[in-house]
Amino acid sequence: MDAIVDKSSLKTSPMHPVFVAEVSGIDLRKLTQADADAIVAAINQYGVLVFRNAAPLTDEEHMAFGAMLGPLQKLKMLTMIGKSKPRLKYQTMIDVGNLDETGNLLEEKDRRRAYHNGNLLWHTDASFDDNRAVYSMLSAHAIPPVGADTQFADMRAAYNALPEAKKIAIDGLVAEHSIWYSRALGGLTDVTDAEKATRPAAHHKLVHLHPKSNKPSIYLASHASHIVGWEFEKGRALLDELTQFATQERFVYSHKWRLGDIVMWDNLATMHRATPFEDTKYKRDMRRVTVLEEEMAD
Ligand code: OGA
Ligand code: MN
Repeated sequence: MDAIVDKSSLKTSPMHPVFVAEVSGIDLRKLTQADADAIVAAINQYGVLVFRNAAPLTDEEHMAFGAMLGPLQKLKMLTMIGKSKPRLKYQTMIDVGNLDETGNLLEEKDRRRAYHNGNLLWHTDASFDDNRAVYSMLSAHAIPPVGADTQFADMRAAYNALPEAKKIAIDGLVAEHSIWYSRALGGLTDVTDAEKATRPAAHHKLVHLHPKSNKPSIYLASHASHIVGWEFEKGRALLDELTQFATQERFVYSHKWRLGDIVMWDNLATMHRATPFEDTKYKRDMRRVTVLEEEMAD
């Protein structure tokens, strides 16, 4: 009997001079293993993929897509940063919108709002954990009429463009990352010691070889507070300098959301940030599924 040759019909068209492609020719609701392999090959090349969908995927479809690519992040954060119940019923659906558990806008003083404001800073997801995020898939269920683009920066292109002397100077350095560092910058200041203890800091190499694509990349985020073994301010200055360098316009793509879009990014090769909008006036319902390097402990 002839083997069935399963080949994906995935197509990519570039959206930016250095990274980012729009994907077509496949149905995210009916992914084959060949499609999943083609998606991994495409993201290794482009770092960010845009999938247009006529209607948003259901949470179940969205999670099934993520699960084809690796173990999913489970969120324990919401129960901690407010007494409120989560809005979404699945542990693996991360809520990054501005709605409360009844679907109304978060109020000005809500701690969850301050928590989400941390996303306005350049970052990569879950770098504050030993078990890093690899892929994030963000799905647009409701979008405000203006603003709220999401921006991405290519950290491989940024690394390649560094002067040789700088590459040598940062080789082997390790940064400390903490969720509480970036949340404080975002305005969440009343964090208790009990809350802090739930998420200890993590250490990661500042330059790493991407485990899938083998390409060198700067691994940086607003979660990174300092360089391990360096005087704090000296490390701070280096991290700020690298962040500025890596987020120059030539390395940055701004995504204008359409309803139903899923944008998938490689957290080990890019940084991203949210941009402002009138979040106490307009609803933004955005849901994320995140693939981690390793299965997460319960
Ligand atoms: C995220 C994130 C940015 C945005 O989902 O990880 O940072 O524009 N989102 O919502
Ligand atoms: Mn993020």
